[in-house]
Amino acid sequence: MTILFSNSIPDIQKAAQIITQGGVVAFGTETVYGLGADATNTTAVLKIYQAKGRPNFNPLIVHFADIDHVFQFVKKTELAYELAIKFWPGPLTLVLPQHQPCPISPVATANLPTMAVRIPNTFVAQRLIHYSKKPIAAPSANPSGKISPSTAQHVIEGLDKKIDAIIDSGPCHVGVESTILDLSQPIPTLLRPGGIPVEALTPICGPITIDTPIETKIIAPGQLSSHYAPSLPVRLNCQHLLPNEALLAFGPPISHHGLYCNLSVSGNLEEAAQNLFACLRFLDSEGQRIGVKGIAVMPIPQIGLGLAICDRLQRAAAPRSI
Ligand code: TXA
Ligand code: MG
Repeated sequence: MTILFSNSIPDIQKAAQIITQGGVVAFGTETVYGLGADATNTTAVLKIYQAKGRPNFNPLIVHFADIDHVFQFVKKTELAYELAIKFWPGPLTLVLPQHQPCPISPVATANLPTMAVRIPNTFVAQRLIHYSKKPIAAPSANPSGKISPSTAQHVIEGLDKKIDAIIDSGPCHVGVESTILDLSQPIPTLLRPGGIPVEALTPICGPITIDTPIETKIIAPGQLSSHYAPSLPVRLNCQHLLPNEALLAFGPPISHHGLYCNLSVSGNLEEAAQNLFACLRFLDSEGQRIGVKGIAVMPIPQIGLGLAICDRLQRAAAPRSI
């Protein structure tokens, strides 16, 4: 049975108790819902991989409630600290060398010498970490390879009965996952565009190597080309629709009488990111129900949050065979 908790303090405390006892709890962050477990408990972390059907070579992000705690576990470089002060709590994940010996389960970090760390920016996430007194390992709370969840209902649709509990804190306000920046290499490397735009990082970091397009080698093992995949095929940068296609619009829509969802009528990229996963899920389920053949996506500018949106859509449209 999966328990559904509210975001009240007593409920968060009960959820924290489940975490300290080695269970797995889904909770809302500002980006997407995460599936959390005590990062120092290998048995608990294994439950995350099992619930998601996630390959064990794909490491997890470890979530903390305060900056000093983070740097007890990973190397505090000058740049890491500067970025932490500016962007945490918030949708930025930093990959840094671990201090050794490290109490975090090697299963959480897939035996890598580095660790991905972040401080999430919601009351529920921060209280959950605080009450459980543990760093919390948490991937997005969806079955591996499927569309990420931005509401508690999305989590239930994918993982009901496979996890111990869900804390419902309403829809996530950023809507795409955190930006992942690897600081363990000589030049900061963007492994995944996300909720903090690259344009906000460069004034602090200087030049950033971008290593995210789906054609390049996989540094973040989770960046497999097919990911965020709806069941229906997805076609990108569409100016025209093929017969029997649903439309995922951005900005003023092209004329269309069939199944349709608009990420942002005004062309606002923050609003589009917030709506992205719910729109994809809606078009996919409703499209399958009424016999639509695919989802056509209008062009979206690759600036600001548009880079993260386009990355997720490219993966949704990628060949499904690997
Ligand atoms: O917004 C987010 O980041 C959400 C919320 C729940 O915090 N989490 C999330 O986790 O998106 P997940 O597991 O879906 O994506 C984490 C990514 C994976 O692609 C993984 O390969 C990468 O982070 N990653 C984790 N540790 C890494 C490491 N040491 N080096 C390189 N990549 C790493
Ligand atoms: Mg994920």
